[in-house]
Amino acid sequence: MEVCKRPETMQRITTPELAEAFIAEQVKEVQAQVGDKKVLLALSGGVDSSVVAALLIRAIGKQLVCVHVNHGLMRKGESEQVIEVFKNQLDANLIYIDATDRFLDKLAGVAEPEQKRKIIGNEFIVVFDEEARKLDDISFLAQGTIYPDILESDGVKAHHNVGGLPEEMNFELVEPVKLLYKDEVRVVGKALGLPAEMVDRQPFPGPGLGVRCLGAITRDRLNALREADAILREEFAKNGLAGKVWQYFIAVPDFKSVGVRDNKRYEGWPAIIRAVNTTDAMTATIEEIPYPLLHHITERITHEVEGINRVLYDLTPKPTGTIEWE
Ligand code: XMP
Repeated sequence: MEVCKRPETMQRITTPELAEAFIAEQVKEVQAQVGDKKVLLALSGGVDSSVVAALLIRAIGKQLVCVHVNHGLMRKGESEQVIEVFKNQLDANLIYIDATDRFLDKLAGVAEPEQKRKIIGNEFIVVFDEEARKLDDISFLAQGTIYPDILESDGVKAHHNVGGLPEEMNFELVEPVKLLYKDEVRVVGKALGLPAEMVDRQPFPGPGLGVRCLGAITRDRLNALREADAILREEFAKNGLAGKVWQYFIAVPDFKSVGVRDNKRYEGWPAIIRAVNTTDAMTATIEEIPYPLLHHITERITHEVEGINRVLYDLTPKPTGTIEWE
């Protein structure tokens, strides 16, 4: 990340017209910087890397090589969406790596949250580095650095930067949205034609579902979490909560309780719903989900998801709870 300051005269990008002007200017700048060389980008599917990818495709087309590493901890349908949008619709030069087994094998038996984060962050670098070495004529590395990353680069949030790449990767950086705030990145993404559900996404931690499958991750519990989370997202979207609630997800702890399904004893994990509102993630309040919707979500998750037999709603604000469970 290159540290620099946003000029005080720079206008806040709030409209499609301002976005188009920004895009046109950046396209020129990137073309001038890159020439006919190749640029590598780790494309997670998050807002920032997706907008950088779309912008660079506009500027340099196939000279951009996107690498999407699926660490097996993505939400349901996310990697598929990256392939659909970038490979099929935008005709990007996209390398897709399904590294699920590598990540889950490394994580097997590891219960300590910070250890899990470290393993995921390190393995990401190893996998990405391996791919970069297979490509021989890359000169630049593109990154989805945004202005708050520069303002916050005081070390406090260092552990949040899963996907941060090693310094010794000797590429010149291309960081076209580094002076933009998040809301501006979204406006630019829409102007570039990215789908709303990609551009307006809720925040999703780098270690993904890895920190929501609590304790030592197992494949069956991770699958249950992914399915339950997909139901929660579907119901929030259908009921007008998706655009309103800042962050919402499921966490699944590693213990079971006794229950009953089809008149038989059915031991399963509980699915814990978290739905919070905040402006800066330092404190958070709880969304008042209507009871009928909570009942409906409970009914769906307990009947449709293998392994889950109870649904709980976490009413704890931050503080005293953090937003994530681990
Ligand atoms: P907490 O749990 O600290 O979360 O209240 C605050 C915000 O940070 C996100 N979060 C992370 N993001 N890597 C990330 O990229 C991480 O390891 C990580 N841990 C928490 C969390 O989702 C929330 O938005």
